[in-house]
Amino acid sequence: MKIIAPSILSADFARLGEEVQAVEKAGADWIHVDVMDGRFVPNITIGPVVCKAVNRVTDLPLDVHLMIKQPELYVEDFVKAGADYITIQVESTTHLNRTVNLIRELGAKPGVVLNPTTPLSSLEWVLEYVDLVMLMSVNPGFGGQKFIDNSLRKTEELANMIQSKGLNALIELDGGINSKTIKSASDAGCDAFVAGSAIFGSEDYTATIKEFRTLLGE
Ligand code: DX5
Ligand code: ZN
Repeated sequence: MKIIAPSILSADFARLGEEVQAVEKAGADWIHVDVMDGRFVPNITIGPVVCKAVNRVTDLPLDVHLMIKQPELYVEDFVKAGADYITIQVESTTHLNRTVNLIRELGAKPGVVLNPTTPLSSLEWVLEYVDLVMLMSVNPGFGGQKFIDNSLRKTEELANMIQSKGLNALIELDGGINSKTIKSASDAGCDAFVAGSAIFGSEDYTATIKEFRTLLGE
């Protein structure tokens, strides 16, 4: 079964606990937490304090996406706050191998994220150490943007790369996933789908997630 990860970036933050519980009840698999520092991306969101509060109200795994410079300084705080997966942007740290290892040593599952124009070749020496590769299918920083079409070809190439190396890292896509894009993303080889505005902007979270699953052939 494919993984659906609602991004709380598009939730009503004044009712965050209820919103998280609502998507859990609606059939979500993971909760995607977007952490932005106003330096790596031109927006500021939330940190470990909110992550910990979210973790208290759900049994779902927390998929924490760090869009911050020097993520190595904060991964321990996010593991303590309940992160299950921590994904770091390859563009954000000079010490990618060290930071991936640190995430694993602290007990979370490490993943790496690529911006839309960051080449797959940047994964060559890190792929075997991660549980997850996330491709940005929008420029990171904001919810509600349009899916960048060549992310599909990038997903296909990544799936081939993982297979040809005999690895089993999951592929996740983040940005612009909705009922129009999810099927082609899945056909290209995507395993996990982040969706913010398409879920939290909908009237009925259960119906939206059910529609996604139908489109995924589940
Ligand atoms: C963008 C974030 C995404 C965002 C996706 O920087 O990393 O997780 O919330 O939002 P939608 O699904 O609305 O494109
Ligand atoms: Zn994200």
